[in-house]
Amino acid sequence: MESAAAAAAAISRIGLAGLAVMGQNLALNIAEKGFPISVYNRTASRVDDTLHRAREEGGLPLTGHYDPRDFVLSIRRPRSIIILVKAGSPVDQTIATLARFLEPGDCIIDGGNEWYENTERRIAEVSASGLLYIGMGVSGGEDGARNGPSLMPGGSFQAYGNIQDVLAKVAAQVDDGPCVTYIGEGGSGNFVKMVHNGIEYGDMQLIAEAYDVLKNVGGLSNAELAATFADWNRGELESFLIEITADIFGVRDEFGEGELVDKILDKTGMKGTGKWTVQQAAELSIAAPTIAASLDSRYLSGLKEEREEADRVFKEVGVLGEALGRKRGIDKKALVDDVRQALYASKICSYAQGMNLLRAKSTEKGWNLNLGELARIWKGGCIIRAVFLDRIKKAYERNPRLANLMVDPEFAREMVQRQAAWRRVVGLAIEAGISTPGMSASLAYFDTYRRARLPANLVQAQRDLFGAHTYERVDRPGSFHTEWTKLARESKAGAGSLN
Ligand code: 6PG
Repeated sequence: MESAAAAAAAISRIGLAGLAVMGQNLALNIAEKGFPISVYNRTASRVDDTLHRAREEGGLPLTGHYDPRDFVLSIRRPRSIIILVKAGSPVDQTIATLARFLEPGDCIIDGGNEWYENTERRIAEVSASGLLYIGMGVSGGEDGARNGPSLMPGGSFQAYGNIQDVLAKVAAQVDDGPCVTYIGEGGSGNFVKMVHNGIEYGDMQLIAEAYDVLKNVGGLSNAELAATFADWNRGELESFLIEITADIFGVRDEFGEGELVDKILDKTGMKGTGKWTVQQAAELSIAAPTIAASLDSRYLSGLKEEREEADRVFKEVGVLGEALGRKRGIDKKALVDDVRQALYASKICSYAQGMNLLRAKSTEKGWNLNLGELARIWKGGCIIRAVFLDRIKKAYERNPRLANLMVDPEFAREMVQRQAAWRRVVGLAIEAGISTPGMSASLAYFDTYRRARLPANLVQAQRDLFGAHTYERVDRPGSFHTEWTKLARESKAGAGSLN
């Protein structure tokens, strides 16, 4: 404890335990906004580091503690304590450490990327001692935590009321307010953050595909790619991920010739939230093909050695002929414009999938999620922040029961305007042998959703034939079964041949 007097007076407005990168930066952000904060970490050096930074930044109102009891007692009641430790058992351990000193009405706020059911279990567990609990999604990385993240708190509404003023000041600020809102009960805050991450996977995959097509079909150099993405960031695609992508292409390799991006091993890592999103989509029977494609692409990227071997095998048998790869005489400007449109249209499909997943879960759990408001709090601070989220917000405000983002009249018009370019890009990529799983999945999602009649009638007939699963008819109610094989045999005599 830094000051016995300070603890005795219990002056801190809030506490934060877990001073790794995110925790340290969020604590400094809270202190900078004028809320006295107590911090604690099991490893003492992290406390010292944070104190040092608080002093360096002009003496922010932050007190460091090395003992959990002193830490808890230094916070004004009812206490609000944010914990930012690794998801899973470290959260349970931290709760156990702190709960001994907490009193009824105090609240623990878990700011990690936690599985929502763990939060629901903990809500029930701590309620036995009268404690409140919030699972709060925090997005924006290190910079967001320090300068304004997007915050997604769910759980105890009473506890949210106790820290609403702090969160509103600490969050990123956009034209229509701070990027925070009470999400809903239970583990809804974690669930919404999980879907945010699934959408983040989708966005990153779509951008990577745009890069692949521009580089390997269009032959754009890194300098041209940097200029292209910078230009896109001034239009409808304006977003954090497009902006950082433009920056990446400009960074030179410090160990050799050229740009660093070309020296990075093509294997994408992951921590699990994207996988949970796809698992949840499957559980809830929500089609999320773009997000699933982004996850599959990460898995396939991990098979680097196998891919190298496959490359060798297919080159040897000569499958990859002249037709594949870079196109000659391509109009780079026209391609850039097409890819921009394909990326935008694909992105609409991906967000539509994420939003539908949120709505399905909200219905299942009775969370009453407000999709327009979720789009609003993602406008700033978080990784998927983008100008286009304002349009999504407005679409759900216009019609909160919108069945799918794609059929909002404005988005529908935009997709139709871009579909020719979108089809050209996917077609060109297929011809060139450049995989675009995200863009193709988005296009297939669009083409499936917009068609009043699908070939599902044939699948139903097959199911009925081999499993007597029955089918419905388009022209009369009821459930039907047909002796398909018998009838087919009987009619064989009359069967003609294809001509
Ligand atoms: C954010 C990010 C962040 C997350 C990684 C996870 O919103 O700030 O989503 O919370 O840790 O981006 O992604 P990976 O699974 O790719 O590691």
